[in-house]
Amino acid sequence: MPSPTSRPAIVVEGLGKHFGEVEALKDVSFEVPRGAVLGLLGPNGAGKTTSVRILTTLLPPDTGSAHVLGLDVTTHRQEVRSSIGLAGQYAAVDEFLTARENLLMVGRLTHLGRAEIRARADELLAQFDLADAADDRQVRTFSGGMRRRLDLAAALVHRPPVLFLDEPTTGLDPKGRNDLWATIEQLVEGGTTLLLTTQYLEEADRLADRIVVIDHGTVIAEGTAVELKARLGATVLELGFAGHEDTARAGGVLAPLGEPTVEGSVLRLTVDDGARSMLTAVRALDDAGLEPATAALREPTLDDVFLALTGRRADDTGPDDAAAPPDGTTGAPRARGAA
Ligand SMILES: Nc1ncnc2c1ncn2[C@@H]1O[C@H](COP(=O)(O)OP(=O)(O)O)[C@@H](O)[C@H]1O
Ligand SMILES: [Mg+2]
Repeated sequence: MPSPTSRPAIVVEGLGKHFGEVEALKDVSFEVPRGAVLGLLGPNGAGKTTSVRILTTLLPPDTGSAHVLGLDVTTHRQEVRSSIGLAGQYAAVDEFLTARENLLMVGRLTHLGRAEIRARADELLAQFDLADAADDRQVRTFSGGMRRRLDLAAALVHRPPVLFLDEPTTGLDPKGRNDLWATIEQLVEGGTTLLLTTQYLEEADRLADRIVVIDHGTVIAEGTAVELKARLGATVLELGFAGHEDTARAGGVLAPLGEPTVEGSVLRLTVDDGARSMLTAVRALDDAGLEPATAALREPTLDDVFLALTGRRADDTGPDDAAAPPDGTTGAPRARGAA
């Protein structure tokens, strides 16, 4: 048996899960080394929350296995729960308590002693910039960003070595998102292993060491952000046209240069030799009597990767709450080391 320190913190092998007719996960496998950040990236309904619920012992898989710190999540639920923290997609703090009361309440569910719980609450309130609002306000008066920070703090009361964050910044404004990213970065500097789900490419790009892209319950790509972008080619050539009709015609004209993707009146082509391709493209368009309204060369983004892989954008969502499990993860028992 390999020594415990050499084993990855999270090992997922061939996970499958059905909900009635819906095949939420089909043969999903991946690993997260200790101290690493894995971004599980995919659109609404991809199977992200289902994966997280299985890994945090809240849901049994139909097939396959998952281990956290070497512990099987189906046969060692209590041990797994005491080594993990979970902050869900829907902040699950008690609205009618203060921030400190919430943390003390979570602390009482752990094995920590009273004095230690108090000290830990102080420490977390300071770390998450909530000290000023800790005692004189109920959480229901908090902003979305403050709630998410408190939710994250609550997941960390028992100092779990492995942390799961399910869409931690969905619904936050750009400032709230940026603040939370900075907080998460500090956390992982401290050595916490993190599995983070997101539909934001930018978030995966910034926070994750490796990215697993899932769609319809299947892993469709895996690698670092740089590796995923490099698959596309060196440069993206982006041409805007006055109308959809011109864009469609341009797609035909430029097909010999690569595989153009068309989105609205914008056409994109990933190419290796940007400047030359631009010249060739503009000449070919000119010969066809087409004139782009805008033309640009830029580095590929993860958005381009996702579009190329799936034919749509990661955050191109349908009705959002389609992703909320009917049993309501919001009020579900939380894997916070509850003993
Ligand atoms: N408890 C459930 N009952 C029925 N269907 C569910 C349940 N949980 C998830 N699903 C379905 O499984 C698929 C994956 O859902 P989910 O894991 O929540 O995706 P994501 O978190 O990536 O948005 C979706 O089609 C979703 O509607
Ligand atoms: Mg989800």
